[in-house]
Amino acid sequence: MGNPTLNGDGIQDNMAINYVGPFVFTKTLLRILKESSLSDGADVRIVNVGSGGYSDISSRQLDYGSISGWNKNFRWSMLSTLRRYQYSKVAIHLWTNYLSQQMTNEDPRILVLLVHPGAILSDGAKRSLLTLPFPQFWLWVMGLWMYPQSQGAHTSVFAASAPRDNVHIFPGAYICPPNVAQTQKAFVLDPQRQKELVDFTERLLTSWGV
Ligand SMILES: NC(=O)c1ccc[n+]([C@@H]2O[C@H](COP(=O)([O-])OP(=O)(O)OC[C@H]3O[C@@H](n4cnc5c(N)ncnc54)[C@H](OP(=O)(O)O)[C@@H]3O)[C@@H](O)[C@H]2O)c1
Repeated sequence: MGNPTLNGDGIQDNMAINYVGPFVFTKTLLRILKESSLSDGADVRIVNVGSGGYSDISSRQLDYGSISGWNKNFRWSMLSTLRRYQYSKVAIHLWTNYLSQQMTNEDPRILVLLVHPGAILSDGAKRSLLTLPFPQFWLWVMGLWMYPQSQGAHTSVFAASAPRDNVHIFPGAYICPPNVAQTQKAFVLDPQRQKELVDFTERLLTSWGV
């Protein structure tokens, strides 16, 4: 979260950290993951951290086919900081759903899953609350309904380690507290929107020499 700042490549921090970073990390490891999946008894999974907040973005606001689209600043919104964060999380959902389909076609041994940790009063969430007027009040109020940081990894650990025959573990499953697969909104399941994002990401990475 935070103010809209651009990184050295001209990409807004939210998109760079929440989306491009995991994208490049996964792309870099994919060959090794594919090789590992051939080993006896291997259970290779990619677990991406999305957010239930993705659903607050309207499908009409999506534009992932240009840098200006990626850097949408939501200045008109009362919650522009939150919206920029959620917009980067939509990107994670779109790409993870794309990747899941890609693995189903190319290498179905690799299981791709997406998680929402729940509302977690993490250090980062606390830092954001401390920027508000009356920060101690907000910390107290949010502490009443948000989960403690110690529970922040529950859905990730479940997605990474629950047996494959668990009813909530399947390609592209979106795991939310209390470790149940939920259906995502239609706009992040749209293959054309996914492709627009992934194609533009690949073009950008090529232009950066990555
Ligand atoms: N908290 C929630 O309610 C909530 C809800 C839905 C989804 N999520 C998702 O859960 C994940 C964790 O969130 P959180 O609330 O635990 O956030 P957090 O407390 O702010 O932790 C974020 C982590 O990311 C690291 N990080 C930040 N910028 C980085 C960068 N440029 N390069 C490398 N690492 C960087 C931080 O490292 P340092 O500690 O070194 O700064 C920190 O370990 C995020 O993907 C978030 O979107 C959280």
